[in-house]
Amino acid sequence: MTRPSPAPSVRAETLSVAMLGAGTVGRAVAEWMLGQPDRLVSADGGGVTLVAVAVRDLERAREAGIRGDLLTDAPAHLVADPGTDVVIEVMGGDEPARTLIMAALRAGKAVVTANKHVIAHHGPDLEVAARLTGAALRFEAAVAGGIPVLGTLAGDLAANDIQRVRGIVNGTTNYILTAMAEDGRPYDEVLEDAQELGYAEADPTGDVEGDDAVNKLVILARLAFGLWLAPATVGRRPPTARGDGTPGITGVTDQELEGAAALGLTIKLLATATRRDGVIEASVIPTAVPADSPFGWTDGVTNRIEIDAEPLGTLGLSGPGAGGPATSSAILGDLLAIARGFGSTWAGLPEATGPAVAAADPFDGRRHWFAFLPAVRPGPLPDALDEAAAVGFEDGTAIRSEVVTLAEAKAAFAAILPDGVDVTLYPVDD
Ligand code: NAP
Ligand code: HSE
Repeated sequence: MTRPSPAPSVRAETLSVAMLGAGTVGRAVAEWMLGQPDRLVSADGGGVTLVAVAVRDLERAREAGIRGDLLTDAPAHLVADPGTDVVIEVMGGDEPARTLIMAALRAGKAVVTANKHVIAHHGPDLEVAARLTGAALRFEAAVAGGIPVLGTLAGDLAANDIQRVRGIVNGTTNYILTAMAEDGRPYDEVLEDAQELGYAEADPTGDVEGDDAVNKLVILARLAFGLWLAPATVGRRPPTARGDGTPGITGVTDQELEGAAALGLTIKLLATATRRDGVIEASVIPTAVPADSPFGWTDGVTNRIEIDAEPLGTLGLSGPGAGGPATSSAILGDLLAIARGFGSTWAGLPEATGPAVAAADPFDGRRHWFAFLPAVRPGPLPDALDEAAAVGFEDGTAIRSEVVTLAEAKAAFAAILPDGVDVTLYPVDD
């Protein structure tokens, strides 16, 4: 009689984890790892335990509740320590984060990071280093906070042909736009709220000017399309009638949001990467979307990502996109994936170790355009606008153009603007 073979033995190894940074995200990670140790053990692999935390200001970290015996102000020593198996990098910024991540990978240590800047700007080099030593580099927390979108792209959708990834991927800007549109609150005041809630970056310029969303789009594109885009080539300035606007959401006004609402629209910062004719078109542009649509309903810090793929169709993922608890969920998931031996976030996908490539301009093609005009000259409207939807206000007119090219929209709006006046043209996502 054939006996059943014994069940594979469970790896009882517990990996020692050193964390670099204990701010909004790091504190939430430490709280869960120290408070819920049983959740950091997998049934089919080993477990992980937090053994050290590096910060700059030891006293501030102690006051914030991090156990004093774990703390050090020497992150490089933690990375070099032979007792460290896994490094969590949640310091943020470019350096020293990049060097510390690289040192860990070169030493064969697994790294979990939430640092979208470092992954997007140094992706090819980090991928080469990780593949060389076989160290795992995981970064689910770098995109859309707690939404498991990278794992979905790299794992569940790995056999699909992905055509487009687009989404609201920055919680701070979505929180600001929602509060401006719904409560009419001023931009600066709402930005302060987002900082206090822990959504914004240490320097929120990157949030409001779109760089943070560009970094996330570069990471999404790596997993969806198998190449690293150069972040600087991803457009983040909406067009205007006479040129280009200011980056990200910095030019969006209360009047524009009110005008959009009158036409059944709202403005969202949409990050989009599309594969077309062998190139990747990519942009992070404030876009007018129907208020009554999944992107239109995505409010506050919530993020939403839509993936168009064959044979799947369209998949939408929504959830908490920033803040300590949501982001810690992604980091903790990555830690367990390492304990289970799952490798890097891109594991199973083809290599992308060549240099970063330039993104193509997404604005050829025809679409509606939305603008709020402070004043409209009387007289006949140009063709592109003679059947446009328009709503008048005391201080101007909200207009949604017919379906036209960008060049046609620019010419039509410029023709009805007073000399020297310019307006932002928001693409309309129907
Ligand atoms: P944070 O609140 O500013 O915390 C940064 C932490 O890193 C602080 O504990 C700081 O210590 C420490 N640190 C910075 N530079 C250091 C250095 N040179 N040496 C030692 N310690 C250093 O930042 P965060 O919001 O937690 O974000 C951390 C990372 O997660 C960033 O890459 C961010 O983009 C990413 N992320 C954040 C969120 C979010 O919602 N906040 C979501 C997803 C991803 P001191 O306090 O002592 O200076
Ligand atoms: N500052 C980022 C945001 C944090 O607001 O989306 C999450 O990545």
